[in-house]
Amino acid sequence: MLKFDKVTKTFGANTAVSAASFTVDKPMMIGIIGRSGAGKSTLLRILNRLSDATSGQITFDGLDVTALRGAAKRSWQSQCAMIFQQFNLVPRMDVVSNVLHGTLNRQSTLATMFNLYPTPDIHKAIDILDRLGMAAHAPKRAEALSGGQQQRVAIARALMQDPRIILADEPIASLDPMNAQVVMQALRDIHEEDGRMVIANLHTLDTARRYCDRVIGMRDGRIVFDGTPEQLTTGVARDIYGADDSFSESMTSTQIEQSAAAAALMEKAAAL
Ligand SMILES: Nc1ncnc2c1ncn2[C@@H]1O[C@H](COP(=O)(O)OP(=O)(O)O)[C@@H](O)[C@H]1O
Ligand SMILES: [Mg+2]
Repeated sequence: MLKFDKVTKTFGANTAVSAASFTVDKPMMIGIIGRSGAGKSTLLRILNRLSDATSGQITFDGLDVTALRGAAKRSWQSQCAMIFQQFNLVPRMDVVSNVLHGTLNRQSTLATMFNLYPTPDIHKAIDILDRLGMAAHAPKRAEALSGGQQQRVAIARALMQDPRIILADEPIASLDPMNAQVVMQALRDIHEEDGRMVIANLHTLDTARRYCDRVIGMRDGRIVFDGTPEQLTTGVARDIYGADDSFSESMTSTQIEQSAAAAALMEKAAAL
C-alpha cells in the first residue's frame, strides 16, 4: 500500500536521505531508529510533503504522493497527520479548541477565527479525548497540562483528521518514562483498533522493540536495516548507531552520541 522507491533528498552537498526504498503491504506500526542526523525527520517530512524529495517516488495505494499539487497535496497531508516532539499545541488555547484545529483543512477561515465549530465536530473531539483518557481536561488551557497530556492532545488533534497514517517525529523524546509509555501505548492502540498505519521516529531502541511490528534503521541517510524487532539484534543495532561496545539497548540516541564523542576523545588522547 505504501512504497518508497529510491527516495533521495539533498540539501546542497549534503544528502539527508539517500535512495531510500521500502514497501509496506498492510497497516503496521513502524519505528525508525538511527543517530541524530541520520535522516529520520527528513524521511517523514517527505512522506507528509512538508518537504519535497530531490528524486525518487512515493506511492500510496497507487497514488503518486510525490507528484501531488494544490488541493490534492493538502488532502494527502490531512490523510497523514503528523505529531512532533514539542507537541505544537496553541498553549493559551483550551484543549478542545486545540483538537478542533485538526479540522482546519475543511473549515472556513472566518468560522475558525471566531471558534465556530460545527456541533458534531465538537462531540467528535470530546469522544476522541475521552478515548485517550483526556476528556476531563477538555476545558483547560493546553499550557496547564503535563507533557504527556499535551502529547495525547496532539494525538487527538491528529485523529480529528481521520488520517490513514499517523507520523510521529520523536513523540516521546521530551517525556518522562511513565508518560512515554502512556503515549506509545496510545499510538499502539490506535494502530490496532483503527487499523491506521503508524510511523514513528524513536530515540530509543527499546521503545522501537517493545511497540513496533517493524523497525527501519537509518545511518547517514541510508536504510541499513529493515526487519522485525526479533531480527534487530544488539550487534545490528550497534551498526545502525555506529556505537561502541558500551552500547546498551536502553540508551537514547543522545547518550549514544555522547559516548561516541567520548570514545573519539579517548582515541585522540591515546594517540598523543
Ligand atoms: N532544512 C534543512 N536544510 C539543510 N540541511 C538539513 C535540513 N533538514 C535536515 N538537514 C540535514 O539533513 C540531515 C538529516 O537530518 P534529519 O532528517 O533532521 O535527521 P534526524 O531526524 O535523523 O536527526 C542532517 O545532516 C541535517 O543537518
Ligand atoms: Mg529528527
